[in-house]
Amino acid sequence: MDSSMGAFIRGLPKAELHLHIEGTLEPELALPLARKHGIVLPYASVEELRQAYEFTSLQSFLDIYYAATDVLRDAGDFEVLTSAYLKRAHEQGVVHVELFFDPQVHTGRGVALASVLSGLTRALEQASHAYGMTHRLIPCFIRNLGADAAMQALDELLAHRSEIDGVGLDSTECGYPPSLFRQVYDRARRAGLQVVAHAGEEGPAAYIGEALDLLRVQRVDHGVRCEEDPALVDRLVRERVPLTVCPLSNIRLKVFDRIESHNLKRLLDAGVCVTVNSDDPAYFGGYVLENYLAVQQGLNLSAQQIRALARNSFEASFLPPEQRQRWMTAVDQYRA
Ligand code: ADE
Ligand code: ZN
Repeated sequence: MDSSMGAFIRGLPKAELHLHIEGTLEPELALPLARKHGIVLPYASVEELRQAYEFTSLQSFLDIYYAATDVLRDAGDFEVLTSAYLKRAHEQGVVHVELFFDPQVHTGRGVALASVLSGLTRALEQASHAYGMTHRLIPCFIRNLGADAAMQALDELLAHRSEIDGVGLDSTECGYPPSLFRQVYDRARRAGLQVVAHAGEEGPAAYIGEALDLLRVQRVDHGVRCEEDPALVDRLVRERVPLTVCPLSNIRLKVFDRIESHNLKRLLDAGVCVTVNSDDPAYFGGYVLENYLAVQQGLNLSAQQIRALARNSFEASFLPPEQRQRWMTAVDQYRA
């Protein structure tokens, strides 16, 4: 590794906009939590569990991810998990995080939404005091549970309206187009929530168009399959719709076969507002710094291109305009 580039990226102020907190569950924490709650996982050691992290598709990952998530049972578990992530992100130069979580996965197995939220918010408030880190909290609907379940989840979330900032849409993509969730998103927007959705990760470019036209999302999570529709790429550029790209995730889930063939650089060169994020770092072999380093090396990005990615991360964030501008200026003026 070029260590001066590593130091440059680490010190560069960055926002992370695509991070599933359940995807930060490292085997080193999952196993003690399983013991704490008397849960038997089919993996005896950290090494065995990590060896199971060989995926062939999004679904093969989701199966393990949901199984491991079952060790998160009380507010303290969510707090420990979130604090560990925030500490690591802070050490990698992340100054603002927009964090996803999957409320239906927890309420569906009897863990109260209030417990999840209290653990998450305690950790986020502590990071705000300790590091000055800012945040937004974005619960995601599980698309394969369907629109009725999503509407019910939204009901429950709106009882905690002041604790959340937006909504997203994740889990199994193919077969569950954004169009199914139109009414849910109408209601979320009426409640003043920010709206994003995973689209064009495994699913086709048409899902990205639906997310924009029907759900009226402000950013697209992943979105890398937009390239299959050049008119859509033109639209993303023209309307400056940000994509929260997760390079190591895309390799691990076989969206691209190797980092050298990832389309992030082409999209950046075309003028799309692309950002770099870690998705589920405990499963995909790296946090945000490792994602930046992977694309820098694999796609031979210049320091200026790295700076543009960091700048985009603030432009695409849900911070107020003056804070966004302040961080973009800090990125422009940053010297390692
Ligand atoms: N949930 C957690 N990570 C995800 C991803 N990459 N795609 C869809 N759903 C997810
Ligand atoms: Zn994701």
